[in-house]
Amino acid sequence: FQHLWQNYLKITPSAEKIHHLLEEREHHQSADTSNLVNDHIALRTFNIDKVNLNKLAAHFIALGYEEKEQYQFEQKKLQAKHFEHSNHTSPKVFISELLVEQMSNEVQTIINKMLEPVSDDVSLQEHFLYSGTHWQVSQQEYEFLAEHSEYAAWMAAWGFRANHFTISINHMQTINSVEQMNHVIKQAGYELNSAGGEVKGGPEVLLAQSSTMADKILLNFTDGSKLVPSCFYEFALRYAMANGELYQGFVAASADKIFESTNRNN
Ligand code: NI
Repeated sequence: FQHLWQNYLKITPSAEKIHHLLEEREHHQSADTSNLVNDHIALRTFNIDKVNLNKLAAHFIALGYEEKEQYQFEQKKLQAKHFEHSNHTSPKVFISELLVEQMSNEVQTIINKMLEPVSDDVSLQEHFLYSGTHWQVSQQEYEFLAEHSEYAAWMAAWGFRANHFTISINHMQTINSVEQMNHVIKQAGYELNSAGGEVKGGPEVLLAQSSTMADKILLNFTDGSKLVPSCFYEFALRYAMANGELYQGFVAASADKIFESTNRNN
């Protein structure tokens, strides 16, 4: 997780600044060490055998994580699963994959060209989860992918890495709602993802979330460089279920909109 975090910060400078900002607020209230707890991380991939969701998940299963729920995103042609560790201080892991066979032939051709030279056992590499891209595409291919799937374009640009980290509002002392978090983030000058409203979900679905819009980073393509969306920071507040325990799952309708935090224009 430390490697994933450092790798994420390299292309998400806003996350480091927001993390510092929130940590300072918390320290004014308490002498404890950091109250910033990571609720979950999210990773993306293609459902192509050698790099599919289960190949990424194997790294977490090896650490003692267990598969929990599955989620479908029909319009975006994605599916996802979330994983939890019996030690609840470990962040949850949300992994999604693009259903490549449901994309147009042209899109499939670009994705297959990217993945074809990648070795069959690439996912077994120790650093695979934060190994980035194993290919390079042209700006034209990137734009073409983005027109059909922003998700596919993001994968083409950034590859294997954490797509976002998530601050658990439940563990904070100075902020106790997503609305309050959003206010702090906007006051500090950061843009929030407003797709479907700035707050996704709420007490009725036991999870409220918001996220920043992804930073824009200059990326090298085969034919020059261009500013493209990288990664974003998310904020989550979980509500108690009837048994008094906090809900630990995800909400497909909210996640659907959170995916759009890496869209080129929003
Ligand atoms: Ni998330």
